[in-house]
Amino acid sequence: MKRSALVCKKLRILISSGPTQEPLDPVRYLTNRSTGVMGRCLFEAAQQRGHKPTLIECPTMARTARDLERVLKAQLPKHHVLIMAAAVCDVRPKNVSGSKIKKDKLEIVKLVKNPDILVNLSKIKKTNQVFIGFGLESENILKNGLKKLKSKSLEAIVLQEVTIKNSPFGNKNVKARILTSDGQIKIFSSVSKIALAGKIITLAEKIKFRII
Ligand code: CTP
Repeated sequence: MKRSALVCKKLRILISSGPTQEPLDPVRYLTNRSTGVMGRCLFEAAQQRGHKPTLIECPTMARTARDLERVLKAQLPKHHVLIMAAAVCDVRPKNVSGSKIKKDKLEIVKLVKNPDILVNLSKIKKTNQVFIGFGLESENILKNGLKKLKSKSLEAIVLQEVTIKNSPFGNKNVKARILTSDGQIKIFSSVSKIALAGKIITLAEKIKFRII
């Protein structure tokens, strides 16, 4: 904990969760296999500790990456901590068709990059705010995780391995590594999502705050 720690009774914690969706036409969309379990566990763990969490669940409360960015931008100033558990689609179809695209036209659908929400939010981040991200990696987990920690201005990142054989999605025990910006690494070889959520909330409490 820093000497300049903010003293407070409870933290206002903004949590994003679940998969974003990127529409292509009235029938189809791009998405991913996130289920939102981690975000709901974080919300529960934060409430149990007496904090004041706000849960933004995708795709119901924010459908696309750009919707989520707008919602989080509006909410961020009211919060001490952002925990970015949402699985954001990195790309979207360049054009959204108002009518169903015929199958012989589907091979030429163009994709464009979505904004990196954490990178953009870091531009309006205040010095006393804490950002915690998640990272899914199939290889070089710590090296890639460290890159994300730095490029997204995070205080901590929770890393999980993902391969076809080893999927962290859904309500199950996972292996997680937590890297913090002061260089510490914590490894949990098999942890339930609710237990992991508790550890993340404890970490959020300690980084820049003194809870009384
Ligand atoms: N994230 C984000 N905006 C995006 C993509 C991801 O804010 N457009 C956030 C996620 O919510 C997560 C963190 O960035 O907290 C890392 O997400 P991840 O999917 O692991 O990494 P990417 O940045 O998308 O990079 P890559 O897909 O190349 O691993």
